[in-house]
Amino acid sequence: MRRPAFGPASDAAQHRRIAVSVGAVTDREVPLLGGYVSLGLVRVGDTVRRPSGPWSPSVHHFLSHLNSVGYEGAPKSFGFDEQGRHVVEYVQGDVSLPFQVPDLNSAMRRVGKLLRDLHDASAEYVPPDDAVWNIVIPADRCDLIVHHDAAPWNLVLNADRWVLIDWDTTAPGSRLWDLAYAAHGFIPLAPNTSPSAAGRLLAAIADGYGLTDEQRAELSALLAPRIWSMYRLLADGHSNSVEPWARLWSEGHGEAWRSDAEYVEQHHRPLLAAILNSV
Ligand SMILES: Nc1ncnc2c1ncn2[C@@H]1O[C@H](COP(=O)(O)OP(=O)(O)OP(=O)(O)O)[C@@H](O)[C@H]1O
Ligand SMILES: [Mg+2]
Repeated sequence: MRRPAFGPASDAAQHRRIAVSVGAVTDREVPLLGGYVSLGLVRVGDTVRRPSGPWSPSVHHFLSHLNSVGYEGAPKSFGFDEQGRHVVEYVQGDVSLPFQVPDLNSAMRRVGKLLRDLHDASAEYVPPDDAVWNIVIPADRCDLIVHHDAAPWNLVLNADRWVLIDWDTTAPGSRLWDLAYAAHGFIPLAPNTSPSAAGRLLAAIADGYGLTDEQRAELSALLAPRIWSMYRLLADGHSNSVEPWARLWSEGHGEAWRSDAEYVEQHHRPLLAAILNSV
């Protein structure tokens, strides 16, 4: 799902508190399009400037942790520019949407590993006491900080690195909540995917992550609730005229998430069998 990338301008005092300045903008600003709802996102030289929200200092803090422990699947986070925008590395490469790669099986394993490494790096992270997160959908559990929007539309592929972008909704969650969302988007778990292919690719993600048998069963059970949670966000946004969800609902996204959730419920047994039998 494409998310609102930005909220209201962040508190300048928060930016001063973390005191990382990347100075003036000297290069030309090139608007970055491709997201459904990003406003004001630009590329400047080798950086991306994201309008900040109250959560941006915490996102910067978290990304800095990932950078410092050598996690390669996140852009470098540089701090804030003189306009208060969050400055991150511009990652060279392509966003593949729909997700098209030469070998889907190995790609799914790689996605699983990308998230495993992220979660292992995150497990060591201690957020500041005053951390602020942009919680769009509350997770099943709050064990660690996770991405919450790991999907083909937020993955830049290049020869050296696969990098998750768009960390504005990073927040507390659980490993399997994040993985269920990724499985939905990458496989994708949708009516056009044959159940046998879906099971094989789901198993490849689980293998890449290194899930235990118990976790495989838990992941399988979380798929539908995770997809329904997005459906409900859109449905509630539609009912209460909350943007951008109301607009996305009217563009048909709610219907798509509903049919994907029903697909997963309908094929729960073969999906579970596939994920359990691959080890
Ligand atoms: N760090 C980055 N490096 C390279 N390209 C980027 C980066 N951040 C954003 N982009 C480009 O800008 C596009 C939109 O960015 P982003 O995903 O952050 O916007 P969004 O509106 O939040 O998207 P979504 O639809 O996922 O909500 C991406 O698809 C990608 O092409
Ligand atoms: Mg995005």
